[in-house]
Formats: sequence, C-alpha cells, structure tokens
Amino acid sequence: MVVKISVKKKKVRMNKEQRSTARAVRIDPDIVLEVHDLIKTYTVGSSTITALNKVNLYIKKGEFIAIVGPSGSGKTTLINCLGALDFPDSGKIIYNVDSKGMGLDVTQMTNKQHKKMRLRKIGLIFQFYNLFPILTAYENVELPMVIDKKDAKIREARVKSLLKKIGLEKRMAHLPTQMSGGEQQRLTIARALVNEPLIILADEPTGELDTETTTNILKIFLDLKNAGESILMVTHNKRIAGIADRIITLTDGVVTDEVTGGKSLEEINRF
Ligand SMILES: Nc1ncnc2c1ncn2[C@@H]1O[C@H](COP(=O)(O)OP(=O)(O)O)[C@@H](O)[C@H]1O
Ligand SMILES: [Mg+2]
Repeated sequence: MVVKISVKKKKVRMNKEQRSTARAVRIDPDIVLEVHDLIKTYTVGSSTITALNKVNLYIKKGEFIAIVGPSGSGKTTLINCLGALDFPDSGKIIYNVDSKGMGLDVTQMTNKQHKKMRLRKIGLIFQFYNLFPILTAYENVELPMVIDKKDAKIREARVKSLLKKIGLEKRMAHLPTQMSGGEQQRLTIARALVNEPLIILADEPTGELDTETTTNILKIFLDLKNAGESILMVTHNKRIAGIADRIITLTDGVVTDEVTGGKSLEEINRF
C-alpha cells in the first residue's frame, strides 16, 4: 500500500503592496529607529481590535528606552512590528541601516528581507527565552552566526567573548534545561548580540525572573547601554522601567506619556 502524504505550504500573510522592496529613505544619523503613525489591528470573527493606534516614537543611537503599559496595551504587538515579525496595517518603521543617514522601512519589506533584518540588524529577546532545547549554550548563541554563514574562527571568538561577558563561559556545554531562568535569559542576550545588531528589542525580559535575577539582567542592559548599544525594553513594571533613559507609556495602543528615567539600580530597588 502506498501512503501519500501531502504537506500544505504555510500561507504567507502579505498583501501585494507589502511585496514591494523597501526603498532607502533619509533618516537623522543620530537616530537608530523611527516609527511613524503605526496602526495595527487584529480581526477576530466579526470584531476588530486596534492594538496600535497611530504610534509615533524614535530611539537615538545608544539610547535605552522602556515602553510601559498594562497587559493588553499593545506592547508585544509593537515589538512584533518593530522586530520584523509581523506587518502593521499602516505606518512606517525606519531603521538606520547604513549609519550614513539612509534608512530602510521594514513595513515595505518582503518576508525574506524581514528574515535578514532579524538575523543581522535586530536582536530580539523574549520573556520565555526561546532557546533551542537540544542545542548547548554555546550552540544557541552561535546559531545566528552559522545561519549567516560566518567563518568558524570568527564565530568561535565572538561566541566565547560574549559568553565570558555574561559570565557563562563555564556553562558552554550545558543545555538550556540545565540552566536557571536568569542564566537562560543571559544566553538570549548573548544570542541577540552575536551578529552585532543595530538595536536590542526585549519583550518583558524579566517577566519570569525573581527580584535578584531581574537586577542582574537589568545590570547587563545598563552595561550594554554604557557600551553604546541601543535598547528598547518593553515591561508592564513601571519600577524597573525607571532605569531607562526615557519611559514611554502605551495605553490601549496609544502613546499617552513620556518621562525621563535614568535611575540607578539602587534607586529602583529601594522601594
Ligand atoms: N494575534 C492576535 N489576535 C487577536 N488579537 C490580538 C492578537 N495579539 C494581540 N491581540 C490583542 O491586541 C491587544 C494588544 O495585545 P498585546 O500587544 O499582546 O498587549 P501587551 O503585550 O501590552 O499585553 C490586546 O487587546 C490583545 O488581546
Ligand atoms: Mg505582551
């Protein structure tokens, strides 16, 4: 008996307009990312939910921004759009890709171009780590460089130096399941940095961690910021958002507030 197995191709969610190739647009050389009038809706049955309603924001190079807001305010939707994981309905998301004042709009990219952006330009960090359970700590961090076909020697030097930086050089051969939540999140930070992205986008990176481990992760973010990295961190926790340079509040998909942060770890832990 011959058994025929048919594999259905996954439908690509992209309309004709979105299939066009992104054209270079001017962007202030000091800005790493600019968002214009971003709108994203979800349709469930007959009802439409507006998750992002004309969001405008920018992030300067080397800036640490926190986006705060209660559950359901659109934070993850924003990260998904900025992180080239999803397409908004309308609006622009311009990344300063060449550092010379020419940017690319990720909303105008193809899925293939999105993949390239995520591989080379955007370092994503999630609440639940998203590590490969069958790969070692070393291999998890190395993976984006392997996919990007980087030379083996360059890979080894980069991965080892990042593992050292996050204090996990002795855990190289361990699997994620043999590591604590904090250690796993440190690994995802190393993985996000491995291809030297333009920006780190983190969605509730300390959502699963206790206070002490949260402080360790925030310290890494502050060290990265001080070393010149640009970071956008989403959190529902206003207290920890205080360490960012600027804190932007999202309420029902609308930017409703922006304040200056810049608090130290001691200050945010005092309460
Ligand atoms: N895939 C989806 N389908 C339908 N509605 C969604 C989907 N993702 C999010 N939403 C809705 O969009 C709004 C914003 O959600 P989300 O971006 O996850 O908020 P947050 O991360 O701030 O909790 C919520 O009302 C949520 O229910
Ligand atoms: Mg969320």
